[in-house]
Amino acid sequence: MKRFICKVMTIIGLAAGLTSGAAASASVSGRMAGEKAETAGKKMLVVYYSWGGNTRVIAEQIKALTGADIFEIEAREAYSSDYRTVVDQAKAEIQKGEVHAIKAMPANLADYDVVFVGTPNWWSTMAPTVAAFLKEGDLAGKTVVPFVTHGGGGMARCEADIVKMCEGAQTLKGFAVNGDAVESAGPGVRKWLQSIGIIK
Ligand SMILES: Cc1cc2nc3c(=O)[nH]c(=O)nc-3n(C[C@H](O)[C@H](O)[C@H](O)COP(=O)(O)O)c2cc1C
Repeated sequence: MKRFICKVMTIIGLAAGLTSGAAASASVSGRMAGEKAETAGKKMLVVYYSWGGNTRVIAEQIKALTGADIFEIEAREAYSSDYRTVVDQAKAEIQKGEVHAIKAMPANLADYDVVFVGTPNWWSTMAPTVAAFLKEGDLAGKTVVPFVTHGGGGMARCEADIVKMCEGAQTLKGFAVNGDAVESAGPGVRKWLQSIGIIK
C-alpha cells in the first residue's frame, strides 16, 4: 500500500511540476560529473537523512566499504511518524521552498575531503532536512557524492538539486536505489564506489 501511494504520489508530483524548493531556488552551481577521484588518504564522511530507515542502510554500506565516518541528520522538530502526514508536510515545505531545521551539524566538517550526501527522494527532490544541511555547511573545495533511495521515482531531481547547493565543490556521479532493495544493494554500492574511483 505504502509503495502504491509512493508511485501515485510520484506521478502526481511530476504532473504538478513541483519545484524543488530551496534547492531549485538556489542560484549557486556545482559540477555534475562522473570524474574519478583519487581518494587514498582522504578523510571521508557520510552525511544522511532517513525518515524510514532505507537511506540509513545505504549510508551504513558506504561506511563499511570506505571506512568513512558517519553522521545522521536529525530534524529539529521531528516529522510526523505517520506516512500520509509526512507526505503532506514535505509537500508543503518543498512547494514553499523551505528547508527543515536540523538538530546539529557534523562536528569538524571542515576536516573532511569527501562528503557523501544521502537523502530519500521526497517529491522528486532531497528532503528539506538535507537542504538545511547543505545550506548551512560549507562544502567548497570538497568532493561531494550524492546518494538516494526512492519509492520508484529514481534519482529524479535529487542529484541535480544537491549539486546546485554545493557551490565550489567537485561532485561525483551519484547512486540511486529503490528503498525496497536496500538490503541487497551492497554489490551495487560497491560497483558504484569503484566506478567513481572511491574504492579499488
Ligand atoms: C514525504 C515523502 C515523499 C516521497 N516522495 C517520493 C517521490 O517523489 N518519489 C519516489 O520515488 N519516492 C518517494 N517517496 C518514497 C521514499 O523516497 C522511499 O521510500 C525512500 O526509500 C525512503 O527513504 P528513508 O526510509 O530513508 O526515509 C517519498 C516518501 C516520503 C515519506
